[in-house]
Amino acid sequence: MKVPEAKYIWLDGRLVPWAQATTHLMTHSLHYGTAVFEGIRGYSSAPGGGGELNVFRLLDHMRRLEASAKIYGFPLRYSPEELASATLELLRANELREDVYIRPLSYLGYGTIGLVFSDIEPHVAIIAFPYGKYFHKDGLNVMVSTWRRICQEATPPAAKVSGHYVNSVLAKMEALRHGFDDALMLDSRGYLSEATGENVFLVRGGTLVTPPPSAGILEGITRDTLIRLAREEGIPVEVRDVSRHELYVADEVFLAGTAAEVTPVLSVDGRTVGSGRPGPVTSRLRALYESVARGSDPRHPEWRTPVYGRGT
Ligand SMILES: Cc1ncc(COP(=O)(O)O)c(C=O)c1O
Repeated sequence: MKVPEAKYIWLDGRLVPWAQATTHLMTHSLHYGTAVFEGIRGYSSAPGGGGELNVFRLLDHMRRLEASAKIYGFPLRYSPEELASATLELLRANELREDVYIRPLSYLGYGTIGLVFSDIEPHVAIIAFPYGKYFHKDGLNVMVSTWRRICQEATPPAAKVSGHYVNSVLAKMEALRHGFDDALMLDSRGYLSEATGENVFLVRGGTLVTPPPSAGILEGITRDTLIRLAREEGIPVEVRDVSRHELYVADEVFLAGTAAEVTPVLSVDGRTVGSGRPGPVTSRLRALYESVARGSDPRHPEWRTPVYGRGT
């Protein structure tokens, strides 16, 4: 689906009309994948209209953007706090009040043809537009990809770098070609890592299980949210290596990410997960995540940044 246009894009401190926010073909990041980015959601407290728009874990996402840049030594022109307030400025300028997706992107511009980027000017863009579901299905059929997750000794997956996503594109397109909805990837040791743009959770005997950072995952903010909410609900959580076969005998499997939110997995490699329907722990965490993100559950107010403030 084509991204719907908004009025403005925030570019290096200015609000630029959507159609004019373009870049030169010699942009370093376009050739070498040297951009860092984030995916953030804003949720309306009343999806039907008339609600308050809150950005979910805004500063945490901007801090991860800063960490991604730091891992690769890329310059970032603005602090996480400055980028958080720029996001609010953009949402207000675009008069967005419904559910939105926000894409901050820090990239290296026009300079040399070589790899060295020390003399290249960095830029930051923030793009925001109305957005609904990422997966238009209530449950997914997934495969374990023949492609391994990029290994952390080569390109650390803990950084959200644009170049890393060629790995996800390979796995995703392979899955679609074979009639699946998404792919799970194993790390270079053969343990479960993550999906193409989501972290993975299993439920085994009432315990929530998810792979650790050492399995080459992006440390998802949704993953962190769910681990914390689950522990608060008294659901035991294990962060540990997961073998491939565990996917086949798990009671429940789901994907978690900003775009995917909590999406149940109904089968893996043609083997039905549990009853073949979204399981009770998945459904409970899915509902809890949505109500906390929208603010209908008052817990964790520090995770919600109001865009307009009350009464505006
Ligand atoms: C590869 C990958 N893993 C996991 C995630 C989930 O991260 P988050 O929950 O912060 O969106 C994403 C999405 O950003 C991703 O691209």
